[in-house]
Amino acid sequence: MIIAIDGPAGAGKSTVCRLLAKELGYVYLDTGAMYRALAWALLEEGLTCKEESQWAKYLPDLSLRFAIKEGVLTISYRGKPLDEELRQPEIAQKASRISQSASVRTFLTHWQRTLALDGRIVAEGRDMGTVVFPYAPVKVFLTADLATRTKRRMAQYLEKGISVEYSALEAQIRERDEADQKRALAPLKPAQGALLLDTSGMDISGVMTRLLEFVLEKTGPG
Ligand code: DC
Repeated sequence: MIIAIDGPAGAGKSTVCRLLAKELGYVYLDTGAMYRALAWALLEEGLTCKEESQWAKYLPDLSLRFAIKEGVLTISYRGKPLDEELRQPEIAQKASRISQSASVRTFLTHWQRTLALDGRIVAEGRDMGTVVFPYAPVKVFLTADLATRTKRRMAQYLEKGISVEYSALEAQIRERDEADQKRALAPLKPAQGALLLDTSGMDISGVMTRLLEFVLEKTGPG
């Protein structure tokens, strides 16, 4: 049973997916974190300066590990956990850049499907409903206007002590969304049959109520 939730940066996917997974007793799979971790590993290995066509042969040997522990995805690189370091704005941009590569997408799509074999999953990303889990019974496209998304991201960064300037952040988000929407492979777009939910002006409890209703509509009680 898979709940596939896609949408642009800062639409509130992470908060909502984490809560939804908790509420339903599902695993929360943050696939953006997987792209960020792979960007991190490629940078550490000095592979980003090599031709993209060369990456495929290195990917399986990277000491990057993904696992599900206590209902959430854990990531380690060279035996050490990767978490907060992946939240830096530069890593988000790098992740978007490497996500255009066919070998990267094939590698991570395979991992995502393997992790989903564990059972009941709330999967968040850009291509969950369109490519990775097209058979998911519940598909959602979560969005919000650019100003709302920038403000939400800004608040998250402030909380983590990362300082960013509003207009620079807005430009970064706009640029990343455009790249994610226009790329040739698995571009960001709503999946067929997805619930389109614009969360601008909605609070978290309103979003959760609508999502839980939709899940119930699609899966029935129990
Ligand atoms: O969700 P996020 O902001 O952490 O994702 C970072 C980047 O990773 C995003 O800009 C594009 C890429 N990504 C992707 O291509 N496909 C996914 N399923 C998830 C993320």
